[in-house]
Amino acid sequence: MASHHLCKWLPFLSALSCLPVLALAARSTPSSTIKAVNLGGWLVTEGWIEPSLFDAIPNKDFLDGTQFQFKSVTQQMYLCAESGGGTIVVANRSSASGWETFKLWRITESTFQFRVFNGQFVGLSDQGNGVDVVAVSTSPGESETFEIVVNANDPSRVRIRSTNGFFLQAKSDVLVTADHPETTSWGDDDPSVFLMTKFGKLQGEYQVTNGYGTEAAAVMTEHWNTFITEDDFKFISGTKLNAVRIPVGWWIASDPNPPSPFVGGSLRALDNAFTWADKYNLRVIIDLHAAPGSQNGYEHSASRDGSIEWGTTDSIDQTVAVIEFLAARYAQRQSLLAVELLNEPRASGVPLDTLKNYYQAGYDAVRKHTTSAYVIMSNRLSGSSTELLQFASGLSRSVVDVHYYNLYTDIFNGMTVQQNIDYVNNNRSSELNTVITANGPLVFVGEWVAEWEVNAASEEDYQSFAQAQLDVYGRATFGWAYWTLNNVEHHWSLRWMIDNGYVSL
Ligand SMILES: *[C@@H]1O[C@H](CO)[C@@H](O)[C@H](O)[C@H]1NC(C)=O
Ligand SMILES: *[C@@H]1O[C@H](CO)[C@@H](O)[C@H](O)[C@H]1NC(C)=O
Repeated sequence: MASHHLCKWLPFLSALSCLPVLALAARSTPSSTIKAVNLGGWLVTEGWIEPSLFDAIPNKDFLDGTQFQFKSVTQQMYLCAESGGGTIVVANRSSASGWETFKLWRITESTFQFRVFNGQFVGLSDQGNGVDVVAVSTSPGESETFEIVVNANDPSRVRIRSTNGFFLQAKSDVLVTADHPETTSWGDDDPSVFLMTKFGKLQGEYQVTNGYGTEAAAVMTEHWNTFITEDDFKFISGTKLNAVRIPVGWWIASDPNPPSPFVGGSLRALDNAFTWADKYNLRVIIDLHAAPGSQNGYEHSASRDGSIEWGTTDSIDQTVAVIEFLAARYAQRQSLLAVELLNEPRASGVPLDTLKNYYQAGYDAVRKHTTSAYVIMSNRLSGSSTELLQFASGLSRSVVDVHYYNLYTDIFNGMTVQQNIDYVNNNRSSELNTVITANGPLVFVGEWVAEWEVNAASEEDYQSFAQAQLDVYGRATFGWAYWTLNNVEHHWSLRWMIDNGYVSL
């Protein structure tokens, strides 16, 4: 997963809410424990699940959120937003890290804006002669917009053209200006030539829709119609699975005309899912995976550039309205099992009090329309696994969602097959035991997968690992959901795992 170090955050002020304490209210177990599969990568794009979706984007190496570093060939130093942003841009850093990294905002397929560490955009100063390059604007416009011209013979060499028609140049180590003419040797003597390093790309809904631009509606409609179909629901109903968890994005509530670059049509796809769920006797968990501004900075929350900007009063109000829209639309459907208020908010960007305030408001919005649907609240990434228990205990039919992957942290590097299985049987098991409490909320392992850091594991190894997880997560009081149904990465596709005998339910 990409790293995300820019967490911009506006304080959220609110009155302390008084939590009702309804003893025993939270415990109301579903008639049978949920064995679900996620429909990941369908209504919220994740490029690694279906890379071909990105194939036809023009200039597809330059998508929103891709990170770049630029080394001046004359200075042999990296461009840097001094202090991380808010002042001048210099060319005096011998190594590159956060302040020397620029995140792309794609305006057209050939014009871009560059966001710096503190959130400002590279642009031309309105002081002096108007060509000094600074990083001060927080609302990018014309003078923060640039073209990247790539050398046809050596794509690591680029020049950056300002909307004033001239190119950026590193005049000295402390002076970067937009006043170099068109002519160039492309050689190491040209101060307008930079060596570009690209890394940290995002491939989410923002990138795919903004990348396709006017073609996006057609491309996404085709994706929604083909990536998950009625046949998938038929397949699921032929297994021991009894539910689907469907990630959705906030823009679904403004279908058919969501804010640009998002496009309409995902609501009709969700309607279809309910129709198929009814037909094949499956339950549906609607999971708000992407909230406005992004609650975790990952592509799976439709982040534009890796920032976490969800949590302001406006974004919370907007998110509650999305939840209420979904609850109102599907409350009367017999297949509606639960509404999950927010997937994986990240502790580094979302304070616990902000989250609880939102969860309370979101819970109330669901309850305006249904008393029978469960309301699921995801723990924070890098938060304490018990931090929601007391809060959720006061809410009837509440569920806490925990995600268990033997991935993403260093402790799994170099673990053997048996060590992974022991970790599930011992460590995960005892972690789960601390989340399952008497009179507390139900517990859902809403994401897990039979994939790990073990190289060249055998089919039997995968079977043992999957079985250990099924045994332990089978004790979760609400149930579990595998991540995910369809995926080009076979072990991440439950359909493939079942068809090939790696997982047996
Ligand atoms: C780079 O230049 C700026 C502006 O003069 C200065 O404040 C900073 O200390 C310099 N940094 C290095 C590493 O030379
Ligand atoms: C797993 O739990 C055991 C026993 O409590 C502990 O010694 C070990 O450090 C844990 N492993 C990891 C990787 O946290």
